[in-house]
Amino acid sequence: KEEDYEKTYQKYGEILQTLPKERGWMSEHPVRYQGCWLSPKSALKGVILLQNHLRNRPTDIILAAFMKCGTTWLRTLMFAIMNRSLYDFSSHPLLKTGPHDCFPFLDAYIYENYPITDLEVLPSPRLFATHIPYTLLPESATASGCKFVYIWRDPKDVLISKWQFMNKIKPEELPSLSIREAFEMFCQGISHYGPFWDHVLGYWKASQESPEMILFLKYEEMKREPLVYIKRLAEFMGQPFSLEEEKEGVVQEILKLCSFENLSNLEVNKIGVQKFSNVLVVNNREFFRKGQIGDWENHLTDEMKERIDQITEDKFKDTGIDI
Ligand code: A3P
Repeated sequence: KEEDYEKTYQKYGEILQTLPKERGWMSEHPVRYQGCWLSPKSALKGVILLQNHLRNRPTDIILAAFMKCGTTWLRTLMFAIMNRSLYDFSSHPLLKTGPHDCFPFLDAYIYENYPITDLEVLPSPRLFATHIPYTLLPESATASGCKFVYIWRDPKDVLISKWQFMNKIKPEELPSLSIREAFEMFCQGISHYGPFWDHVLGYWKASQESPEMILFLKYEEMKREPLVYIKRLAEFMGQPFSLEEEKEGVVQEILKLCSFENLSNLEVNKIGVQKFSNVLVVNNREFFRKGQIGDWENHLTDEMKERIDQITEDKFKDTGIDI
């Protein structure tokens, strides 16, 4: 109801007043909310609106990730797996649709499309994406029995990918961030939805408690054995490939369709744009940079590498996460 949303907006305004701020990656200063750094006008608003208004269904599947860990790839894979009986690979919607248009990104969607009635009319099973850390998810998501697919990546590559991305999408009048500035903020945890390590740990712990609810993936492992992981993803989504499909090469077709080489060369991803909100419009080509493992070696000094590796080791030791 309209008045419920008004109340949530009021609550958001009150919370915002109380939060510590820091200098961030762009002109807007991120705020720290329950241990997480969020852009005040978008992510924080999104989190609070979702916590109060999202109604999940047990059949929903949510793709969750820290920025630049592989959302674009996973989005297309999940969409292609889920809808494979509907489309032919030669005229597939992904050949004409930007990868971020194939299902809603909850965090931005909610404050641009208020009230969220059109999410309610989507047929089940619904696919969503989010960058929200596990601890800030709405209870509706964690208690509804819906599933999560989580992907993470070597933080050194996340940093480089994010640094390059932010410099591409920043307003022209802002100066570029140096790698040193980006590195310092990243190490201090000041990064959209960060700290990075807490984000990974939140989903890791939840996946240990409920492995049937959270599929915990790593970009590097998927790159090395994509067919194995596409099959695992399909099983987890409740859509395993039949023997017939495997014989017909459907898994390979999906891999090919969603590959970096294929997607990045499509017209829609060369010249199309993704409108996340009224103020955030990103050229689709910025979602495709190199798609490789280990590009950090071209940008980080030995000292920077060691500092990030040390943080990772300290944060992840005794957790069971395979670094
Ligand atoms: P690089 O900047 O290292 O190239 P996200 O999608 O979460 O924003 O992550 C972006 C990273 O995923 C970028 O990494 C991008 O190039 C890579 N990427 C995009 N599409 C991909 C695909 N189909 N396969 C593999 N990697 C992909």
